[in-house]
Amino acid sequence: MELSFPEGFLWGAAGSAHQIEGNNVASDLWALENRPGSVMRERSGDACDSYHRWHEDLDIVRGLGLTAYRFSVEWARVEPVEGQISLAALAHYRRVIEGCLERGLTPVVTLHHFTSPFWFQLAGGWLSGEAVARFRRYVRAVLPILDGVEWVCTINEPNMLAMVASIMNQGGNGEGDGREERAENAAGALPAPDPAVADALAAAHRAAREELGAAGLKSGWTVANQNFEADGGAEAERDAWAWPREDRFLDVAAGDDFIGVQAYTRVRIGPEGALPVPEGARRTLTGWEFYPQALGNAVRYTAARLPGVPILVTENGVATADDAERVEYTRGALAGLHGAIADGIDVRGYLHWSLLDNYEWGSYRPTFGLVAVDRETFARTVKPSARWLGGVARAGALPA
Ligand code: NOJ
Repeated sequence: MELSFPEGFLWGAAGSAHQIEGNNVASDLWALENRPGSVMRERSGDACDSYHRWHEDLDIVRGLGLTAYRFSVEWARVEPVEGQISLAALAHYRRVIEGCLERGLTPVVTLHHFTSPFWFQLAGGWLSGEAVARFRRYVRAVLPILDGVEWVCTINEPNMLAMVASIMNQGGNGEGDGREERAENAAGALPAPDPAVADALAAAHRAAREELGAAGLKSGWTVANQNFEADGGAEAERDAWAWPREDRFLDVAAGDDFIGVQAYTRVRIGPEGALPVPEGARRTLTGWEFYPQALGNAVRYTAARLPGVPILVTENGVATADDAERVEYTRGALAGLHGAIADGIDVRGYLHWSLLDNYEWGSYRPTFGLVAVDRETFARTVKPSARWLGGVARAGALPA
């Protein structure tokens, strides 16, 4: 029996500026990637050259039959020097928004997706007393180009951002050491978020929500849901583990217009904390456990935590070189999502991560894309999984 999704449900694909545009030279990440002995294995470089090829990307999304496209506006391009707003950068992003609207695609616009201007980092990053005012000023600068946008994500994965804040700082102060073994680094193994960074991000989100709301725009933020599962009766430990890493960020979204759910895998918590992925478990190219049930579980968890807040799945996908495996994963994830919707949870759409094989924060090796990108010519090749997802979107249903 096929599983039908609600009328008007959004079907899309996602990406973020630093991961697809290329040459994000005024950003903190660019500085981090390019410093001698950087913790990043590979530089982002030209990425997918989407700063120039965005119309090709939008044509692909539309051609597949998808109805939404998520991308981010890059603060480091909009304000490369403190207080100096680039009108050309704003005009660029306005063209992308209009490009979506002209093609009948619903734009889902993220204002901050991990990267900040390097000057912001040098001036103390999120720990500076000025951070929230700086972010508010940036949001105000972007407001005029957001006309017609119904979904604005303020800050992407603030919980992850707060966990990696100390790594980001290495771009400027020269204190970095070692290489990041990302493949081994299950989400649970990252340092706990710095509570001061978490507070600043919550305040920045509220400031953005205020500015956007005053302009009649709806907003939310997107939280990395890690499916923390108690192992061996460690419920109390699981809850203690989850609160600083996830739940406090979900609680900030109470009263928001929507909450973005991003789920990929699970992390099991035992009495001593996060457990490694079990020996012999099926893994993806990021080293995470292959666990498509993550999405349905995450949506249920989020809905229970935030009653009355509509959910948008802003990311879900799998890093694999085997495209049939991508279909298998996505089919499983969508079946779980369908179950949650059938149980009455208000989910408005599903945005697959990612449209393109893009820069996965230190490496191009974990390929999440529905579309391959030639690393020399930047030519795009649509994978069968993309056509499969497009078919689901056109039917509004998951085939049996
Ligand atoms: C979450 C992040 O928002 C995105 O930038 C990243 O590429 C994916 N997860 C996969 O790790």
